[in-house]
Amino acid sequence: MPKLMIVVGSVRPKRVGGAVGEWARDAALADGRFDVDYVDLRELALPFMDEEAHPRLRRYTQQHTISWGERVDAADAFLFITPEYNYSYAPAVKNALDYLMFEWSRKPIGIASYGGVSAGTRGVVALRPVLQALGLVSTGANVEISYVSKQVEEGVFIPTERQSVVLAALLDELVVLDAALSPLR
Ligand SMILES: Cc1cc2nc3c(=O)[nH]c(=O)nc-3n(C[C@H](O)[C@H](O)[C@H](O)COP(=O)(O)O)c2cc1C
Repeated sequence: MPKLMIVVGSVRPKRVGGAVGEWARDAALADGRFDVDYVDLRELALPFMDEEAHPRLRRYTQQHTISWGERVDAADAFLFITPEYNYSYAPAVKNALDYLMFEWSRKPIGIASYGGVSAGTRGVVALRPVLQALGLVSTGANVEISYVSKQVEEGVFIPTERQSVVLAALLDELVVLDAALSPLR
């Protein structure tokens, strides 16, 4: 079974991202094709990237980098959950990505973005070149949620039918892309 790492990118004390992440996690578990590793960047609490050497050298000195590197290394595919902040994506996502390099390379990634009217899509546009720099391969299907807080009731995200269909398509793509990319790693 491919190991799917789901990453919740919002670290605010009161946030919507946890509810969206739990929805995605439960859907991936119900799908049955993945071994799911759920990462809440708020809990992971990585400091601002604090390694001296470029990540391509893998000369990690901090225990949090070593642990994060091992965890990402073990993953075969990713699903990042990110809000849009000021037309871009969550800063904790950039920080978590910047820590590592080859651990991300030649692995597929899907994104569930959310926000106001734009559904987080401007944030995804900003994220794309970063993913490319790290050798991550994006799915075509990405979940886009506009006015996200309207879909959260008592801390639970209630998806539309379309959002569930797109998430299922995204998971399908992760399986196919992982099969194609894993021989290259
Ligand atoms: C600092 C900040 C900037 C924001 N900028 C945008 C934005 O550019 N576009 C948008 O659609 N929503 C924006 N929002 C609204 C967020 O997308 C919305 O509050 C969402 O719930 C944030 O996700 P979170 O609760 O998981 O942190 C912004 C919110 C914050 C806190």
